[in-house]
Amino acid sequence: MPKFATPKGTFDILPAYLCFENWHSSEAWHEVESTFIQEAQKAGFHRIQTPIFEQTELFYKSTGETTDIVGKEMYSFEDKSGRSMTLRPEGTPGTLRALVNCSAHQTANINKVFYSGPMFRYERPQKGRYRQFHQFGIELIGPKCPYMDIEVISIAWAAYQRLSLDRGVRLEVNSIGSTKERLNYRHALVEYFKSNQKALSADSLRRLETNPLRILDSKEEQDVELIASAPIIWNYLNTQSIDHFETLCTGLEACAIPYHKNPRMVRGLDYYNDTVFEWVSDDLGAKSSIGGGGRYDKLYHQLGGPDLQGVGFACGLERVIMSYLQQKNECQTDRKNAIIIAIGSHCHKRAMALAHALRAFGQKIEYYPIDHPKKIKNAMSWADTMGYRYALIFGEEELDNLQIQCKDLSSRTQFSCKLEPSIIYENIVEKSSNK
Ligand code: HAM
Repeated sequence: MPKFATPKGTFDILPAYLCFENWHSSEAWHEVESTFIQEAQKAGFHRIQTPIFEQTELFYKSTGETTDIVGKEMYSFEDKSGRSMTLRPEGTPGTLRALVNCSAHQTANINKVFYSGPMFRYERPQKGRYRQFHQFGIELIGPKCPYMDIEVISIAWAAYQRLSLDRGVRLEVNSIGSTKERLNYRHALVEYFKSNQKALSADSLRRLETNPLRILDSKEEQDVELIASAPIIWNYLNTQSIDHFETLCTGLEACAIPYHKNPRMVRGLDYYNDTVFEWVSDDLGAKSSIGGGGRYDKLYHQLGGPDLQGVGFACGLERVIMSYLQQKNECQTDRKNAIIIAIGSHCHKRAMALAHALRAFGQKIEYYPIDHPKKIKNAMSWADTMGYRYALIFGEEELDNLQIQCKDLSSRTQFSCKLEPSIIYENIVEKSSNK
């Protein structure tokens, strides 16, 4: 019978022993998600859960019409009554809508909530970028104060530290000032890019009309040089905005949170003002954002609440889990034992005999027969998930040469060894034993 694949850009989260890729493991998910939850709870944040679909209008009003998310990436549909609904592309709008609707501001002066769940963006899938992905996020609604920004950043930082990601990530911070300051800056940017418009990429040319600040995010080679000489927002900030930014920076230093100021980081959502920040990591191949956030002082009011300010953060759990597992693998010293991967039925007899002989030395040896070399990836991922130190690979060629291929899963090195149980035991298995 034909089977159904998961939709493009989505994946299942499964028990570790059923996973092809270790970051799909529900155990890893639980470990990472609960670390963020615990750090938020330690700071007095409470869980909130909102629907995964909302009225489309909510995202137009908050995330912003000219953003890539609203313009290109939303999963919108008409329900049976003809109302336009959208699968949430991010958690902030629904969370603020919920807080406004339950008049949270009447109960508490400062509302602190966290959420964790699936988000949906129609993006081109690649490693670390999915159509259904998961965010852990926190939102803090209360008075405008740079220490609230630091509070949010410090919770995320504590979680990254606990997951040992602190060395692999870089916190970038910026101030994008008030709406008025940004408007002046926007004029200056448009003028600058218009006078260089022939050199701009097609995408940036389009953004010049719709959302010129987003040109600063372009990674296109032809744009990068132009961006490096573009005006920077700091020259358009007034004293109040500069003070807010400076207090933020000195506060981060007081908390010993390392950061880098990046005047060209603007973030792709319309609701931000003043503080914006992002954690970037190289762990996923290309430089990618594993979390980000900022201050949004108009949003609560725009969604029908009183004039209250806010700040928040969200991270993509997939990206955090991938980086976390990568770090963990790199530091892994406690891998133990070995697995024998026998490729093709003609090898099974010798491989089974080898497993039996090695077990006679008192070792734990898993026997893992596969019927085709294509399944080796699958077998290796099993060996990885199970924490084996060595994969002893045994195929037709090895059988002919009376050799066995040994893959050290700690150092990721490979070497061959004579197919002789006592030699294999002495050289490999004994070193990695549980004894
Ligand atoms: P964002 O930067 O759009 O911000 O997303 C936050 C994080 O979600 C990113 O840093 C990234 O790790 C992850 N992410 C985004 N898109 C994808 C994707 N397609 N696949 C995998 N991971 C992805 C927000 O969503 C804001 N709501 C954050 C915030 C909260 N600002 C204030 N409060």
